[in-house]
Amino acid sequence: MEAKSKPIADSSEWHWWLLVAFIAVLVAGAASITIWRNYHQLQNKVLHLRTPPDGVMQKYSDALRISTQFFDVQRSGRLENNHIEWRGDSGLQDGKEEHLDLSKGLYDAGDLIKFGFPMAFTATVLAWSILEYGQHMEEVKELKHAQESLKWITDYLINAHPSDNVLYIQVGDPDVDHKCWERPEATTEKRPAIQVNISHPGSDVAAETAAAMAASSLVFKNQDARYSKSLLDHAQKLFQFADSYRAVYSESIPGIQDYYNSSGYSDELLWAATWLYHATGDGYYISYVTVMHGDAFADWGNPTWFSWDNKLAGTQVLLSRLNFFGLGKEISMVENLNLQMYRRTAEALMCRVLLPPPKNQKTKGGLIWVTEWDTLQYSIATAFLAVVFSNYMFTSKTPYLYCNGKLYESMDLREVAISQADYVLGNNPMNMSYLVGFGRNYPQYVHHRGASIPINTNTSCEDGFKWLNSRKPNPNLAIGAVVGGPFLNDTYIDSRNNSRQAEPTTYNSAFFVGLMSGLVTSTHVVRSFT
Ligand SMILES: *[C@@H]1O[C@H](CO)[C@@H](O)[C@H](O)[C@H]1NC(C)=O
Ligand SMILES: *[C@@H]1O[C@H](CO)[C@@H](O)[C@H](O)[C@H]1NC(C)=O
Ligand SMILES: *[C@@H]1O[C@H](CO)[C@@H](O)[C@H](O)[C@H]1NC(C)=O
Ligand SMILES: *[C@@H]1O[C@H](CO)[C@@H](O)[C@H](O)[C@H]1NC(C)=O
Ligand SMILES: *[C@@H]1O[C@H](CO)[C@@H](O)[C@H](O)[C@H]1NC(C)=O
Ligand SMILES: *[C@@H]1O[C@H](CO)[C@@H](O)[C@H](O)[C@H]1NC(C)=O
Repeated sequence: MEAKSKPIADSSEWHWWLLVAFIAVLVAGAASITIWRNYHQLQNKVLHLRTPPDGVMQKYSDALRISTQFFDVQRSGRLENNHIEWRGDSGLQDGKEEHLDLSKGLYDAGDLIKFGFPMAFTATVLAWSILEYGQHMEEVKELKHAQESLKWITDYLINAHPSDNVLYIQVGDPDVDHKCWERPEATTEKRPAIQVNISHPGSDVAAETAAAMAASSLVFKNQDARYSKSLLDHAQKLFQFADSYRAVYSESIPGIQDYYNSSGYSDELLWAATWLYHATGDGYYISYVTVMHGDAFADWGNPTWFSWDNKLAGTQVLLSRLNFFGLGKEISMVENLNLQMYRRTAEALMCRVLLPPPKNQKTKGGLIWVTEWDTLQYSIATAFLAVVFSNYMFTSKTPYLYCNGKLYESMDLREVAISQADYVLGNNPMNMSYLVGFGRNYPQYVHHRGASIPINTNTSCEDGFKWLNSRKPNPNLAIGAVVGGPFLNDTYIDSRNNSRQAEPTTYNSAFFVGLMSGLVTSTHVVRSFT
C-alpha cells in the first residue's frame, strides 16, 4: 500500500508561521518582563519581609569565641600556640609503627581515641561553616582560629592517606582506652593505627574524608594554593576508592561497631560528590548525585536528621545552593529535576521544624529533641541547616516556603535557629548553659578525662578512675564543650559518669560554631565558595 503523505507546509506557508511565531515570542517576552517587574515590586512594597537587626550580636560573638576553643582542648600532637593551660603534648608516637606521623588530629569526645569517621565529619562541617560564614567569623576575629583548627585535622587526614587505596581511620584501641582513665599527656598504652584498604574497604569513612578534604581545599584555596591542591587530589582519590570498593567500614572491621557504627555509605558518597562538585565544578559529580545514583541513594521525599552517621540532610541543603543560585553551566533536564528533588526534601526538613512537631520531637522548653544520647547534636545540626537555608532564601529573594498550607519566610527559619541557640545558651527550664564556659551556670562534671584529672597528679591507667568517681567538680575547664544535653523532660543530670548527657563531642562543637557564625551578624548575603 502506498501512503499518501501530505507535506506539512510549503515554503511560503513556513514564512508566515515564522513571522507569527516571532510576534508571539515578542508579546510573551514583554508580558513576562511586566510580570517579573510587578512581582519584584510586590515583593518589596507589599510583602514587608522581615529582616534581622543590624550589627554584631554580643551574645553570639562571645559564644563563638568560647565554642571554637573546644578544638584546642581536643588536640593531639605537639601543640602550637596553646592557650589551654592544662593541655600539653600527647599522641606523639601515633602512627610510628606504620612509619607515619599521625600525631595531630582531635580526640573525638571525652576519651583518647582518634576516630577518623567523626573527625573527618567535624572537619567537613567546620569547613562548610567557614565557607558560608568566614566573613562573619572575621568580623569577630575568629576566622584565623577556625582555619587553624581545621588545618589541625586536615594535616592529620593527609598523613592518614599514604597511598591511593589505604586510609587510616583510627588511632588507639577503645577497649584498652576504656579500661583506663588518664590524661592524654600521660597515657602509655599502645595506640594501634587501623586502616581500611582494598581487602577491608570502608566507603563511608573514605567518602567522608573525601568530603572533608574537598571542602577544606576551598577554605585554603586563596591562602595556600599548594596545600589546597594537595587536599583536592587526596579527596578525588579517596572518592574513587570509596566508590570503587563499596562497603560499610564497620562491617569490614566489625571491631568498630561498638563506637562509631555506620548505618550505610550511600549518604557519604552523595555528600562527598556534592563537595567535589563545589570544589571542582566538574559536571561528572552532578551526574553522580542525580542520574547515576539519585534513585538508589538519595531517598528523596524523606527528610532525616543530620548527624555524624547520616549526611543526607546536609547534602540536600548543599545541593539546594545550586538550585537557588544556579550552576553557571548547562545540565540535562533530568539532572535539573533531580536537583529539585533534593531541594524539595530539604524544604520538607525545614517544614518539619517550622510546623508544630509531634510531641516526642520537641521538649516543652522548645528544644528539637531526637534521642537520649547526645541529643544536642541533632538540635544544633538542624538549627545550623535552618540558618543556612534561611540565608539562601533571603539572598535569592525567595519570599516564602510553603508548608502544609502555611507560608513561612526566611526570618521564620532564622528564628527557629535562634530558639535552638538560645536554649543551648541557657534560655531553658534548667537555666543551664550547655556550652561549657558560657554564662554562670554550665555543667561542672563534664565527662572528659583530661578535664577531670588535676594536672599535677601522677595517675596511671586504672587508678585514674578515682577522678571519674570523685565528687568534686572538674578541676580543668573543657572550654567550648557542648555536652550531650537534656532529657526529653528538659532535665539534665550534671554527673561525670553520665556520658549520654555529659559527654561533649567535636562535631557538636563544629555545628555550634557554624550556628553561632550564622547568627552573629545580620550581613547574611550568601557568597560564592570560590
Ligand atoms: C587491610 O586492613 C585490614 C583491616 O584494618 C588489616 O587487618 C589488613 O592487615 C590490611 N591489609 C594490608 C595489606 O595491610
Ligand atoms: C551496627 O550496625 C549494623 C547495621 O545497622 C547492625 O546490624 C549492628 O547490629 C550494629 N552493631 C552494633 C554493635 O550495634
Ligand atoms: C530559671 O530562671 C527563672 C527566671 O529567672 C526562674 O523563675 C526559675 O525558677 C529558674 N529555674 C531553675 C530551675 O532554676
Ligand atoms: C610522676 O612520676 C614520674 C615518674 O614516675 C616522676 O618523674 C614525676 O616526678 C612524678 N610527678 C609528680 C607530680 O609526682
Ligand atoms: C526526666 O527523664 C529522665 C529520663 O527519662 C528520667 O530519668 C527523670 O526521672 C525525669 N525527670 C523528671 C523530673 O521527670
Ligand atoms: C559509671 O557508668 C558505667 C556505665 O553505665 C557503670 O558501669 C559504672 O558502674 C558507673 N560508675 C559509677 C561510679 O557510677
